[in-house]
Amino acid sequence: PHLLCIVAARPNLMKMAPILAAFARLAPQVRISLVHTGQHYDTAMNAQVFADLGLREPDLNLEVGSGSHAQQTAEIMRRYEPVHQDLAPHAVLVVGDVNSTVACALVAAKLGTPVIHVEAGLRSGDRAMPEEINRVLTDQLSDLLFTSEAGARANLLREGIAQERIHFAGNVMIDSLLRQLPEAVPPLVSLRAHGHDCPATYGLLTLHRPSNVDDAGRLAALMDAMCGLSSQLPLLFPVHPRTRAMLEKTGLERRLREHAIVLLPPLGYLEMLGLMQGARLVLTDSGGIQEETTALGVPCLTLRDNTERPVTVDEGSNTLAGTDPAAIVSLARQVLRTGGKRGRIPQHWDGHAAERIATATVQWFAERLAP
Ligand code: UD1
Repeated sequence: PHLLCIVAARPNLMKMAPILAAFARLAPQVRISLVHTGQHYDTAMNAQVFADLGLREPDLNLEVGSGSHAQQTAEIMRRYEPVHQDLAPHAVLVVGDVNSTVACALVAAKLGTPVIHVEAGLRSGDRAMPEEINRVLTDQLSDLLFTSEAGARANLLREGIAQERIHFAGNVMIDSLLRQLPEAVPPLVSLRAHGHDCPATYGLLTLHRPSNVDDAGRLAALMDAMCGLSSQLPLLFPVHPRTRAMLEKTGLERRLREHAIVLLPPLGYLEMLGLMQGARLVLTDSGGIQEETTALGVPCLTLRDNTERPVTVDEGSNTLAGTDPAAIVSLARQVLRTGGKRGRIPQHWDGHAAERIATATVQWFAERLAP
């Protein structure tokens, strides 16, 4: 059988690496093609992370780049369709919830190729979030759905997905984390490499959601809160390109530099693991980081009103902090006083999710491709 796998944006890479490794180990008879859509194109967003994960070079890069949602999604579909027809895979495997996920799933489904979705069934319930739309649509287009947390199954059943299509595989992002943790770069080393001293204790901040960073007023309010917090806890802030552009445009960058906030470029995966592991507290609006901090038992404040990953709050070390600056600062101070939530490890976040996916997929191929 021939399986075509899609990567597009940085968080896809940590999910795909263990999947390819599991197929290579458990099912070498499956031919794998790897296509990069080029949604993320910066070296900082890509090359180092490929190297850190030992992810092989894609067979092809569609180089779609950025654009409005419609432009980007349409461009991915336009460029991907002939590639899909040319490679003629038996199935296409997509991960996560980025625009490339839904774009490639739609092309494949229309061409009659089965779609496999890894990280199915996550729902924030918030349709203002572009990723929520991508999640709902991708799951509707998928033939085989692998979930990362137990609650995702109920979300899929509610949307009419047949239960025999759903498999609780566990979290592939945590497969990568557990595999790479021994290689994590110590914070001292990565900060020195970027020209900074490492504070004895620190908080780690990441922000890139359009709802938090695209509106100048909203971003300024959040940054004011972070400036306030930084007098008690120095903050390390690797800045996503989307956020960097807004900080520069609004002049906020200058204000941050007057406080104990270290602005860093997008980091490699092993650097990020080291910084998360060493943090007193992580503040983020990322999906993956909510999961990674839960796996590490590091307290996390999620700067959003909802999460599609509720197990990180119910069982893990995550707290939904909302976006009100005063409330965030007060929750952060509480973590500093009490040490914060440590949580426990959710079911199947055990480093073997990709193996479950490879095994179930081979079984599924055997049933479908039987003469
Ligand atoms: C995308 C995903 C988001 C994911 C995030 C991880 C969608 C809808 N969003 O958001 O779910 O959490 O990736 O990073 O698919 N840019 C660069 N270099 C790059 C990529 C982007 O400079 O390599 C800049 C461009 O100015 C671009 C902006 O970032 O306009 C946004 O990029 P885009 O791919 O649209 O979405 P992300 O914000 O990265």
